[in-house]
Amino acid sequence: MKHRVCLESELPVGERRLLEIEGRSIGLFNVHGTVVAVQNVCPHELAPVCLGRVGGTTLPSEPGVWRWGRDGEILACPWHGWEFDLLTGRALADPSKRLRRFPVETIDQELWITLSETPAPSGSD
Ligand code: FES
Repeated sequence: MKHRVCLESELPVGERRLLEIEGRSIGLFNVHGTVVAVQNVCPHELAPVCLGRVGGTTLPSEPGVWRWGRDGEILACPWHGWEFDLLTGRALADPSKRLRRFPVETIDQELWITLSETPAPSGSD
């Protein structure tokens, strides 16, 4: 079922919103202009992952070199620090673990989320 959540202009780049839709807590994030919606449940131990820090992460580099990047694309769980790529939902350390994501579309400058009929098991899509 499709739900109108807000005006596109109400979620500027880098911002997030927490929503309650059909009894599900959902985080809505504007990642560099791409709006993503994820269930507010960490696949590790079910923490409210959408309350975590959004930032970047260390990038692959040569020994002795420290590189930082992907600012604004990585969500860190507030309980144990698992990092998730908001653009794919996958955990950086174990891509088989992922956040439940929902399709988001823009219709007449409004953001809409489509929820599936049944929630998927934790850690799947
Ligand atoms: S509950 Fe999210 S990292 Fe442990």
